Amino acid sequence: MNIKYDAGHIKQFYDQYGEREWERLESTPENKVNFHVHKYFLNRYINKGDRVLEAGAGPGRFTIELAKLGASITVGDISPKQLELNRLKVHESGYGDYVESWDELDIVDLSKYESSSFDKVVCFGGALSYVFEKKDDAIKELLRVTKPDGYVLISVMSLLGATKRFLPEILKLTQRHGIELIENVNQSGDLYGQLAPSGHFCHMFRWSELESFLKQQVCEIIDAAAANFLSLNNEEILNEVIINDSTLWEQYLQWELEFCREPGAIDGGTHMIAVIKRI
Ligand SMILES: C[S@@+](CC[C@H](N)C(=O)[O-])C[C@H]1O[C@@H](n2cnc3c(N)ncnc32)[C@H](O)[C@@H]1O
Repeated sequence: MNIKYDAGHIKQFYDQYGEREWERLESTPENKVNFHVHKYFLNRYINKGDRVLEAGAGPGRFTIELAKLGASITVGDISPKQLELNRLKVHESGYGDYVESWDELDIVDLSKYESSSFDKVVCFGGALSYVFEKKDDAIKELLRVTKPDGYVLISVMSLLGATKRFLPEILKLTQRHGIELIENVNQSGDLYGQLAPSGHFCHMFRWSELESFLKQQVCEIIDAAAANFLSLNNEEILNEVIINDSTLWEQYLQWELEFCREPGAIDGGTHMIAVIKRI
């Protein structure tokens, strides 16, 4: 088997990516929607006083949201640089007291935590997409450290949504690398090697695949959504709305949220979100 998961590579990638990861969720309308929809799920499933592991936390956009909800957070990431940024951003925002610890970790092995340690586990933004063939170890670990009846909130990259979003670039790549390489990505979901020259290697899921993968675990799927839908490839017009009509933008975010949660839309965003309950 061709092993694709390389912990050292992803650690180095995010160490070098640094502050750009903090900017990402504010950078474009589709990313603002992405942030909004993820926040909706935090609001819905995280309660004041919950002990939460945030795995693959990055620079802390969601750590701050978890703190606002009154959670007691263990922040984890594979990248020391992202952890350092997280500590800085959380302290700057005045929520440092809500964090129990900042831990370097890899979701494929959470043995530093006892089983059933956390009320909820949040793994947003794709850590599960980076572990390729180790995804089974990772989801079992995320569930193991969650209390029975507790929730694990995940989000991963979407194959269909990303293909729709980046279609012009993908069609150009077929000219440079041949159709077969792109077809391999479509069939495997794995973006790897020369097709990802930035080094952003990841597995993109279809919802049918993620659903059947989750159904094999000791959990129940209780919620799912795309992280954005209408906003893909509509940056220009939405930037105009953001600048000129805040009432319409607020209404638009409601439309996105409603549509993203329709079963027919789950594949249709750059990321998809799932909430599972440990049984
Ligand atoms: C795209 S960022 C998402 C950050 C944040 N959760 C969000 O959604 O905005 C992915 C984060 O996952 C971390 N990561 C990647 N693979 C990981 C792994 N195996 N274990 C823990 N963290 C990982 C990266 O270092 C990075 O900070």
